[in-house]
Amino acid sequence: MRSTRYTCGMRTTVLHDSLERVEADALIVHLFAGVSRPGGSTGSVDRALDGLIGDLASRGDLPTGVGDVTTLFVRGGIASPRVLVVGLGEAQRLDAEVVRRASAAAARRARDLGARTIATVAHGAGIGGLDAAQAARATVEGTRLGLYRYGGPDRGPDHGVEELRIVDIDAPRLEALRDGVRWGEATADGVELARDLVNRPPNVATPRHLAEVAEGLARDHGFGVTIGDRAWAETHGMGAFLAVAQGAGHEPRFVVLEHDPTRGQEPPLVLIGKGVTFDSGGVSIKARDGMAAMKSDMAGAAAVLGAMRTLGRLRSPRRVVALVPATENMLDAHAYRPADVVRAGNGVTIEIISTDAEGRLLLADALVYAQRLRPRAVVDLATLTGACVVALGRGTAAGRFTNDDTVAQRVDAAAAATHERVWPLPAWPEHLEDLQSDVADLKNSSGKPYGGACVAAAFLARFTAYPWVHIDMAGMALRDDTIGYQPKGATGFGVRMLVHWVTHG
Ligand code: BES
Ligand code: MN
Ligand code: ZN
Repeated sequence: MRSTRYTCGMRTTVLHDSLERVEADALIVHLFAGVSRPGGSTGSVDRALDGLIGDLASRGDLPTGVGDVTTLFVRGGIASPRVLVVGLGEAQRLDAEVVRRASAAAARRARDLGARTIATVAHGAGIGGLDAAQAARATVEGTRLGLYRYGGPDRGPDHGVEELRIVDIDAPRLEALRDGVRWGEATADGVELARDLVNRPPNVATPRHLAEVAEGLARDHGFGVTIGDRAWAETHGMGAFLAVAQGAGHEPRFVVLEHDPTRGQEPPLVLIGKGVTFDSGGVSIKARDGMAAMKSDMAGAAAVLGAMRTLGRLRSPRRVVALVPATENMLDAHAYRPADVVRAGNGVTIEIISTDAEGRLLLADALVYAQRLRPRAVVDLATLTGACVVALGRGTAAGRFTNDDTVAQRVDAAAAATHERVWPLPAWPEHLEDLQSDVADLKNSSGKPYGGACVAAAFLARFTAYPWVHIDMAGMALRDDTIGYQPKGATGFGVRMLVHWVTHG
């Protein structure tokens, strides 16, 4: 497959005008709980409609829960034929997450009504803690991510809407709105790339495909890129990564993608993403039910590539290196097997107990490789253990492990700010005791059903000698229902958190 030219189907513009005068297939305004006489931009649309919104609101006919949407078909008074009133909930509880959710709900309703152009206010600008730029950013993110639909193996998403117009009559605010739109567009671009990569079938989203996407990003943003193949990995002594790749039909790739505006002056932040393009379990084969979901076992890699796309578009001043060890975990006559002993890039030997504990093997070699970069800090994202899903729930939070509380605090702050939830779990020496081997330095699995997420993290910690955070996002990659700005399917989890960490860290 040729690499995709990634152009977004949907356009966002900022217009200096009044909502009443702007022509669009649907006009979106908002209403807070308990308001019967709306002010601001909703107020001026209300006046142009002869008080219709206020009348409906005071009669209790306009629900104001976050994401509640009421459609008003109007004739005259304003330039647009449909007004969607979206609830923003209690004004004191407004934040960017509320704006993203409400924007998504309103935009999907507009699309359902057949709208190709949408005009909206930047929800929440100047209210609560949100400034105009943050409001515009959240409105763009919520709209684009809420409209996201997987568009197929060789193209970007199909939003079904051509243009989003952010409208404001207040000239001094336009600059901030444009800046917010730039951040929102860059962020949505990254999340959409991550979602596309996870949604693509595993015979399309192969290690080579991930490498081609990385090369495309390098071309678009001037990144440095190295694509390592099997021979390259051998010269780096990556015996653990290569063991996983031994039974794979698709050739493995080890991607090194570097954004360095500092020209080597700054030690890099390193992002590592688990890139198992399909996890059959290998010889320790998984049960057939649910195996298809293991096409999402490269969601960490997708998040890292998505974050690089956003950082490139933003021209972030920070030096960042992305590492993506990419392979399938399959089984053939050459496949690695339980009882094999393999050697990672730092000479540490590993006894294979389960070929299904493959993620930690390829991450071990990536963590060792990261050491050569003299990193300031390393964050890895991986769909690593079912145990993490048991511990924290599905779609609730990712597990967060660390060897450095200062870096962990910053990652936690990024996760909270973006509502990409993480929760701290320990990786203690006691967890490593379960991995003591008679024939190697350690085993890749305890073979016991206890604390699996922590044991896996303790395994990884063995390969780190720098400040490090590990995010086990096993429960976060896929959803089977649509909620807020997360449609069914791939979530793109991790992109927004990583970008926030790099740009605010
Ligand atoms: N990719 C899986 C983990 C996973 C499970 C991701 C469910 C998403 C949803 C990983 O490679 C795996 O198979 N882990 C094993 C580890 C065990 C063999 C120690 C697991 O969780 O069962
Ligand atoms: Mn596995
Ligand atoms: Zn896996």
